[in-house]
Amino acid sequence: MHYEAPDNLLDNKTILITGAGDGIGKALAIKCAELGAEVILLGRTVKKLEAVYDQIAALNKKSAAILPVDLNGATEEHYSDLADTVLREYGKLDGLVHNASQLGVLSPFKQIESKMWNEVMQTNLTSAFLMTKYLIPVLEKAPHASTIFTSSGVGNKGRAYWGPYSVSKFATEGMMQVLADEYENSTLRFNAINPGATKTAMRASAFPAEDTSILKTPDEVLSVYLYLLGDRSMVVTGNRYNAQDKY
Ligand SMILES: NC(=O)c1ccc[n+]([C@@H]2O[C@H](COP(=O)([O-])OP(=O)(O)OC[C@H]3O[C@@H](n4cnc5c(N)ncnc54)[C@H](OP(=O)(O)O)[C@@H]3O)[C@@H](O)[C@H]2O)c1
Repeated sequence: MHYEAPDNLLDNKTILITGAGDGIGKALAIKCAELGAEVILLGRTVKKLEAVYDQIAALNKKSAAILPVDLNGATEEHYSDLADTVLREYGKLDGLVHNASQLGVLSPFKQIESKMWNEVMQTNLTSAFLMTKYLIPVLEKAPHASTIFTSSGVGNKGRAYWGPYSVSKFATEGMMQVLADEYENSTLRFNAINPGATKTAMRASAFPAEDTSILKTPDEVLSVYLYLLGDRSMVVTGNRYNAQDKY
């Protein structure tokens, strides 16, 4: 999808992005700040978040905030505290982008270890469930809040050896649909994006021998994210988007 975002698209909006220290989340955080948003950078590696924070500070726009959280270890209490903090500091949340994910180990189904299965589900799915659950009241304080879930090409069509990651993305799309239906007549909207093959660390670990020169960069897949975060998509909910024509 191609969408040309105006320079003031996200003025007066506060947007929380998970996995904002690297890859697509990092590119999206910087772009959102360029377009006027106050960005909350959530991730687990503080050094990476600080580097993104510095890049945003250099824009001389709204300053960002860093929220260090390991989604794999966070408890329900952490999400409740996180929502209290966002409400206290910002008064509302206009955009929530569930972007962080773990690929896990690609392997035959019968070799999947339950520890790794649980980690992938915790990071990719349960964290998004708990974060959304506790942030809904804060999203409801915004005039029109947008929540974006991140799916994958294996999020609506299963693929051999991609077990827990693929299942977590199917469930992510299911959660998005449940929420979109439940909040149909509200100010909240919920959609999912499949970014498609994108040149990041995760893609490199899934396809180590791939010619990366043919891949889109994170900056090149952001259009649909910006469309869904801006007010043009105010009535759009329950949809799944492919960020690239070829995916
Ligand atoms: N790249 C692709 O081709 C592609 C294709 C389809 C879908 N996707 C999806 O797009 C999203 C972004 O992927 P990406 O390619 O940008 O991946 P990436 O470069 O590996 O970045 C993932 C980000 O998530 C963070 N993260 C992972 N586990 C976490 C945890 N337990 N707690 C907190 N943060 C955690 C990472 O933090 P650290 O930097 O600290 O590790 C990193 O900042 C993911 O949902 C992925 O499934 C990507």
